[in-house]
Amino acid sequence: MTEKFIPLKEISPSQPSLSIPEVLTTPDGELRDALGRPLHDLRVSVTDRCNFRCIYCMPKEVFDKDYRYLPHDSLLSFEEIARISSIFVAHGVRKIRLTGGEPLLRKHLERLIEMLAKLRTTDGQPLDLTLTTNGSLLARKAQSLKDAGLTRVTVSLDALDDTIFKRMNDVDFSVNEVLKGIDAAEAAGLGPVKVNMVVKAGLNDQEIIPMARYFKDRQAILRFIEYMDVGASNGWKLDEVLPSAEVIQRIQDAGMPLQAIDANYTGETASRWRHADGSGELGVISSVTQAFCSDCSRARLSTEGKLYTCLFASHGHDLRALLRSRQQHDDLAIANVISQIWQGRSDRYSELRSKSTDLSQRRKIEMSYIGG
Ligand code: GTP
Ligand code: 5AD
Ligand code: SF4
Ligand code: SF4
Repeated sequence: MTEKFIPLKEISPSQPSLSIPEVLTTPDGELRDALGRPLHDLRVSVTDRCNFRCIYCMPKEVFDKDYRYLPHDSLLSFEEIARISSIFVAHGVRKIRLTGGEPLLRKHLERLIEMLAKLRTTDGQPLDLTLTTNGSLLARKAQSLKDAGLTRVTVSLDALDDTIFKRMNDVDFSVNEVLKGIDAAEAAGLGPVKVNMVVKAGLNDQEIIPMARYFKDRQAILRFIEYMDVGASNGWKLDEVLPSAEVIQRIQDAGMPLQAIDANYTGETASRWRHADGSGELGVISSVTQAFCSDCSRARLSTEGKLYTCLFASHGHDLRALLRSRQQHDDLAIANVISQIWQGRSDRYSELRSKSTDLSQRRKIEMSYIGG
């Protein structure tokens, strides 16, 4: 059973209004939090809406016709997102990931991508500019996203079997359309495409082997994700989590031997493996059984402009209020507010939850609100 829904306005109250520090310092791209972790990755949610109702994310019982999505004027405009992003980039951000809900539902998203593609890291490089999508609109949009300056995409796909996939997305959407989206993204030059499969034990774990086989000889990189206790709607239980170690074991037992390979970068969510016959790579994301908080360099900006310093946070910091303030704060002032927030950050929810699952009862924001 799904737990009773807690309205967003209650679960995402802002902290007391943010104040501008008295002494302002110019960002030097080297911001560290209270645990010494840098700020490298900004995830921006551009809509809280989605055309899927994945049972682990937006269960229909909660996200029904009476569900109140954010009104349009509370969403950050593209100009506001681009301005905030440029400030984050000055603090050392190198990757921006657009998320949702389903980001491709936001009208004219290409315009935002064009604006973000112009940003340069503190050492003058273009950003890694990516997007997480359910793939439903990708076949249609891949080329225009690429033309706007997107560098790559990550596509969610939880099964190859149509019946199981439809049970997961709960809106009768077919696997084939998503596979076409992946192909279109590769053809447009948005590869290597990453494919995220959330594994919920007893629901789609029989799809692990078919998915591993399908992607083995393809360019896309499949990642198996442990089902997490995000939000308050999915009724998460520990026994529905299939540990990544078991995923790897099952793939090897099915005749696909694997070898562990090094991470691409510090703080990568996935542990990487390669097929021993050299035919490709896959990954496992083990935020439940092997938390990766110690290197977490991710900040999240919600659709309405709240800054969250952890996926499991209960509170966000209202940056939109600063952007829209009558005092017309300049970028330096806002940059200093962000430094103050990041420097005070000590979140490490997944590490703490692995010591006590009681923590998962705490109030948390929804994944559809803040994005993966
Ligand atoms: P790359 O840039 O391609 O390395 O992608 P990524 O792994 O950083 O990002 P992606 O959004 O694809 O993350 C995959 C999944 O990992 C998400 O959908 C979440 O389920 C999970 N995840 C991502 N970031 C975090 C995080 O900060 N904490 C936890 N607990 N899980 C995360
Ligand atoms: N556990 C793990 N990952 C989740 N996602 C959404 N909800 C969950 C959950 N409960 C991730 C999936 C999806 C992305 C948008 O968010 O990876 O691909
Ligand atoms: Fe939509 Fe992605 Fe959530 Fe599924 S996981 S409901 S596709 S936002
Ligand atoms: Fe980062 Fe929070 Fe995820 Fe840990 S639980 S990796 S601190 S977002």
